[in-house]
Amino acid sequence: MLENFKNYFSYDIGVDLGTSSTLIYSKGKGIVLTEPSVVALNQKTGRVVAVGMEADRMIGRTPEHISAVCPLVNGVISNFEAAEEMLAYFLRKISSNVSTASRLTRPGVIASVPSGITNVERRAVRDVLLNAGAGKVYVIEEPMAAALGVKLPAYDPVGNMIIDVGGGITDVAVISLGGIVKTKNINIAGNKLNQDIITYVRDEFKIMLGEKTAEEVKRVVGSVIKRKENREVLVRGRDLITGLPREAMITDSDIREAIIFDINNLIESVKEVLELTPPEIVADIMRRGIVLLGAGSKIDGFNVLLEKELKIPIYLADDPETVVVRGAGIVSENLNRYQDIIFNNEDEIPPR
Ligand SMILES: Nc1ncnc2c1ncn2[C@@H]1O[C@H](COP(=O)(O)OP(=O)(O)OP(=O)(O)O)[C@@H](O)[C@H]1O
Ligand SMILES: [Mg+2]
Repeated sequence: MLENFKNYFSYDIGVDLGTSSTLIYSKGKGIVLTEPSVVALNQKTGRVVAVGMEADRMIGRTPEHISAVCPLVNGVISNFEAAEEMLAYFLRKISSNVSTASRLTRPGVIASVPSGITNVERRAVRDVLLNAGAGKVYVIEEPMAAALGVKLPAYDPVGNMIIDVGGGITDVAVISLGGIVKTKNINIAGNKLNQDIITYVRDEFKIMLGEKTAEEVKRVVGSVIKRKENREVLVRGRDLITGLPREAMITDSDIREAIIFDINNLIESVKEVLELTPPEIVADIMRRGIVLLGAGSKIDGFNVLLEKELKIPIYLADDPETVVVRGAGIVSENLNRYQDIIFNNEDEIPPR
């Protein structure tokens, strides 16, 4: 009776706490929040100045006493206080749209975490969410959430492969019979490609670009394969020799040169996972293809290059940045059905 009463009033949510962005799915409503995972802190007072979108706009533009902090690095929490402040703000933001009764109850949370995370790192996610105002917290591994998000037959005795290219990590996983058979987390994802672009432009053009500019250049002219038309974009940065602002024209082939080393390493890592996967499952994957997701996978031509290198069909998920949170949302809608794939604080995730 008490449990029913609680369920009636509580609003349960799925949270994808990513290195680049945080998404929240609310039961019965769908995705209710998408914000950059950024907090702006005043170093003098230690106080939070802005969170999410507003803090993101400040990156590279803050005065000395304010710093824009990303509380997650490579998929795991690196700044606990900032992560807590950020999530508390997001939870408050979504609760302003619900009834007073719901606002008084702490929401039950299904939080997605990378598959390679340690038990200590996973507990940190739980603790930060609890301190930020969540009630009960369950954790789901991101590839499992993704499999549900794209409606793969994750519980069938067939092998499925999922590649999630995020901001901080690429999570490669093989799933069969409702479990993860093999997994690998690689620290090459969207942010690393931005760093590659900054390094390349510094070395080749003697211009220092900001992170935001590198991101923009990647989206506008970045491509991992040569296309028929060449693309170019004018960038502004600081001349390393004179210290003054300078412009330069950057082309798609510059970006390819900048990032191809990491792109090739990423593809090699996927091949290694396939090499360690049992042969029956590899045969399933070759037949059924691989699902690609995460906003980082949107870099032009990545699916084409991957398909060419692996000789396996690649399917880029629809709306690739929301797949994981949609999966967490599916679990939040039907907790009982998915008991076997969610983790409690006491559960240990076995090494794979
Ligand atoms: N159109 C695009 N082309 C290339 N890269 C893109 C594009 N749009 C977004 N990205 C990259 O996607 C990355 C963010 O992906 P995503 O939102 O899936 O990450 P995340 O879930 O927050 O991080 P993680 O899963 O690593 O913790 C950023 O590095 C960004 O540069
Ligand atoms: Mg992610």
